[in-house]
Amino acid sequence: MDIKEIIQNVYTVGVKDIHRSLFDQIMPLSEGTSYNSYLIKGNEKIALIDTVYAPFEPDIEYQLEEMGITHIDYIVLDHGEPDHTGALPTLLQKYPMAKIVTNAKCKEITMALLDLKDTDYLVVGEGQTLSLGDKTLEFHLMPWVHWPDTMFTYLKEDQLLFTTDFLGAHATKFDVFWDHDPRIIPLLKSYYAEIMMPFAGIFKKYLTWIEELNPKMIAPSHGPIYREPSFVLDLYKKWISEEKQNKVVIVGVSMYGNTQKMIDYVSHQLKEKGIEVKYHNAIRLDACDLACDIVDCMGVIIATPTVVFGPHPAVMAPLFLVNMLKPNLRYFGLMGSYGWGTKIMEQITTMLTNMKQIPFLTPVLIKGGPKEDDFRMLDTLVTHIVQKHHEQA
Ligand code: FEO
Repeated sequence: MDIKEIIQNVYTVGVKDIHRSLFDQIMPLSEGTSYNSYLIKGNEKIALIDTVYAPFEPDIEYQLEEMGITHIDYIVLDHGEPDHTGALPTLLQKYPMAKIVTNAKCKEITMALLDLKDTDYLVVGEGQTLSLGDKTLEFHLMPWVHWPDTMFTYLKEDQLLFTTDFLGAHATKFDVFWDHDPRIIPLLKSYYAEIMMPFAGIFKKYLTWIEELNPKMIAPSHGPIYREPSFVLDLYKKWISEEKQNKVVIVGVSMYGNTQKMIDYVSHQLKEKGIEVKYHNAIRLDACDLACDIVDCMGVIIATPTVVFGPHPAVMAPLFLVNMLKPNLRYFGLMGSYGWGTKIMEQITTMLTNMKQIPFLTPVLIKGGPKEDDFRMLDTLVTHIVQKHHEQA
């Protein structure tokens, strides 16, 4: 990543990891990701906001050398995850006078992850400030975006808010600032879906807090910087809202074509009634696409044949993902076929531990291939889905 002065005496450092294809070994990355770090030169002290992932230690060291930085007073950690703290031990060796400035929870986590000493830290609490001379850092604890240790750092004089992972994107095809390219929206959405959505319940409070603060600029730790904060704040407000798209997600698999006939029939009927259907084949699942679709769909229909007595194993991974990401759904549906008996419903409801409040529409589980009576049961399922969608309209 190029070194850029974004505000007087505030610089981007950090790296673009364009070859990274997976995050957390789960989510495909279409263009890698960036690990953003920011250097702030006060007229008395110098602070670095976050570091980078350990494999890129030489990159950030080189950038700081290029800038002629011979000492750093503070390394602020807004979050302890290794993609932002991996280079910390090396930087502490290079700048031994630097204190790690962070909150108590982040201290606990980074001491567990890295070989750090208690005396390396300066622990800050909510609203505490730290002077760099003509620039002041103000710290605000914002837990669960997406770890319990997360906090925001506000550079008061410049009205610049560092939000760590919050409002970030796995994006690398930008210069420094978001430049109104709409291609950032799906990257912001997939990042929100995969990382932030399980904690969405607290975000309304955080978004309101940011709007009242009214920063001129928002600098996350992944992706571009926003000089128009309302752009990214409005997207988050939309994604956490109760309002859903007229859309249903079907996650399915079929072994001998019987469940596939049910999927095709229900999909056709729903489309005829003006409902968008997003089908995810569980055998060739793209976890990123599924995560994005469940942000704003009304419901999820699981379509699976019975294997032994339970669901096909292929639908378990996407169901595990749905349960983990906790989308704000209006309903679940279930359909599939079996040969001699089935316990699909019992096994699926048992695993959806985080989604117990989401109602199941009457399942359609049929013996063998779908016949006339079975199609009428599918019609009833479709009617129930349409009713759910009309309840919002
Ligand atoms: Fe980008 Fe939660 O670390």
